[in-house]
Amino acid sequence: MESLKEKILIDGIALSEDVLKVDSFLNHQLDPELMVDIGKEFAKRVEGGKKVTKILTIEASGIAAALTTGLELGVPVLFARKKKSITMTDDNYVSQVYSFTKKEESDITVAKRFLNEDDHVLIVDDFLARGAAAFGLISIVEQAGASLAGVGIIIEKAFQDGGTKLREAGHPVYSLVRIQSLEKGKVYFVEEE
Ligand code: G4P
Repeated sequence: MESLKEKILIDGIALSEDVLKVDSFLNHQLDPELMVDIGKEFAKRVEGGKKVTKILTIEASGIAAALTTGLELGVPVLFARKKKSITMTDDNYVSQVYSFTKKEESDITVAKRFLNEDDHVLIVDDFLARGAAAFGLISIVEQAGASLAGVGIIIEKAFQDGGTKLREAGHPVYSLVRIQSLEKGKVYFVEEE
């Protein structure tokens, strides 16, 4: 997605060889027009085949793009919670996600009444690094007996192994941009894009 690449090149900051800071348009402050374009792009990529019935993401940074994708596809958007809300009195699907940045396991939770075996789910998230969040969300889709349309990722860090693990497990991955490396403050994209 060319407009996203340009945005990353102009406003992204390679904080280290592992971490790209995109808080001026994706992680903290949001660029609404870019979010709408991202939603359109995910909808286009997942078109054909069985109809998606629900978008699933995880709070917080996945929600904006999940919303615009849901708007485009005309389906509800569901986000897994990282902390159980006091209003979550229903039965829940729970999955454990290991955070490499925080070095801890945490539970992510989705109320059972929002996801069931009739759903065909598109997962959307902002970053794909080691795939912990994506696999946690896939586990929730599986617990619900739902089917997976694919995993839509805004920025895949292709030098980390999450994308490979997801593809090897047979899950369709729709990455809008794939980063080859972050070196000396510069962003290099994977060639094929
Ligand atoms: P993984 O799910 O792919 O295994 O990722 P990992 O544990 O490495 O990442 C944990 C958090 O850090 C996630 O956000 C993820 O989106 C974010 N992250 C990973 N790599 C980068 C990066 O290069 N740049 C930025 N800006 N974020 C990155 P989170 O803690 O769930 O935060 P949020 O969704 O509440 O914002």
